[in-house]
Amino acid sequence: MAYYSIQNIPLTDLAKEFGTPLYVYDADKIREKISVLRAAFEGIDLTIKYAAKANTNLSILRLMRENGVDMDVVSPQELEIGLIAGYEGSNITFTPSGVHFSEIEYAVSKGAIVNLDNLSVLEKFGQTYGSSQPCLIRIKPHVFGGGNEKIMTAHPESKFGISIHQKAEILSIVEQYNINVIGLHQHTGSDIKDGKTFEQAASALFDFAYDFKDLQIIDLGGGFKVPYSPEDPGVNMLEVGQIMSNAFRAFCQKYGRELRLWVEPGKFLVSESGTFLAETNVVKRDPVKTFVGINSGLNHLIRPMMYGSYHYIFNASNQDSSKQEDYRVTGYICETDTFSFDFNGKQNERLLNKVKEGDIIALANAGAYGFTMASHYNSRFLPAEVLVDGGKARVIRRRETLEDILRNQE
Ligand code: LLP
Repeated sequence: MAYYSIQNIPLTDLAKEFGTPLYVYDADKIREKISVLRAAFEGIDLTIKYAAKANTNLSILRLMRENGVDMDVVSPQELEIGLIAGYEGSNITFTPSGVHFSEIEYAVSKGAIVNLDNLSVLEKFGQTYGSSQPCLIRIKPHVFGGGNEKIMTAHPESKFGISIHQKAEILSIVEQYNINVIGLHQHTGSDIKDGKTFEQAASALFDFAYDFKDLQIIDLGGGFKVPYSPEDPGVNMLEVGQIMSNAFRAFCQKYGRELRLWVEPGKFLVSESGTFLAETNVVKRDPVKTFVGINSGLNHLIRPMMYGSYHYIFNASNQDSSKQEDYRVTGYICETDTFSFDFNGKQNERLLNKVKEGDIIALANAGAYGFTMASHYNSRFLPAEVLVDGGKARVIRRRETLEDILRNQE
């Protein structure tokens, strides 16, 4: 997993040319993941709706579009960025949670298909549009799945979706306003690798679906787990795809019609394409442990501090593994700010090839929920982003200046 280069360009060269902290993405990796996903659902009428929240850089969105991947968005801003990237509204699904109805009206006005997850919103949708606009309904299947409690979205206490136990209420609203429900949707959570969980969630949705007579689409969400280290198995996509495809085929047969299948992966498509590069400011030899302090922090990559997420870390400046040491890798933010967590969500030390000040430290799996969750905490600039494609690296988001931070302030 210690990839010292992307498409033959050494990470240290990228750090030198574009500066640090830096997000770098490998376009080939994204294309490869799209192909794997398609192969996993071979023979099924599949549309991939990329969960853009994972990475909304315009160039990444364009790459998705060029490869026939549609978009799933959660805010008017993501929708707007999608349109700027060249998407048609009709290729975009708006799957919001708890937003003001005006955002749904906005999405409809842009031609996006909305995915409704609340009875009162469904009713308002009916009152506003009657049968004139298509929609999907997001169901909460009461299934447990996901890497940690913050990213589980289908269990009984989750705020997402309309409970499968409220089918009668849904049907009554749909009938009252003659709402054009073209699809049903569910998303179980993130970081799921177990085929059984996907199967269980899908079957809950299928059981629910027979009472909806005009369906064209079943949307089974995203959440496919990616590998986070050489020892960590990601999802076996081909196996899971087959399980889901078989269940879907059986459903279509019983339903009496061929439907289209949508999936909405974020991480699966972009996580592994990204590497985050930072420079070692200090090596701090303390009596208890040795810290590697890098020129970044939870302001740039919050996943470790927010979820206890594991990111594979390596010293991109030193490939000599004969001298390794245990280091706690930390950031410069003014509170506990650790990048090195173990698989149980505890801060830990990592065995890295000997680190000296100035070395470039790389964190893997930085393509999803890295930059999009970055902030200006401590008034630091956001990192720059670089895309490597066709063996060439180019800036796809320039580094900020103080002007960017001050722009809207008085
Ligand atoms: N569809 C819906 C409705 C979602 O809410 C999400 C993610 C996805 C699809 C894509 O899930 P994915 O394939 O990326 O697992 N920030 C967290 C992940 C939060 C996911 C939120 N919803 C993290 O960094 O682990």
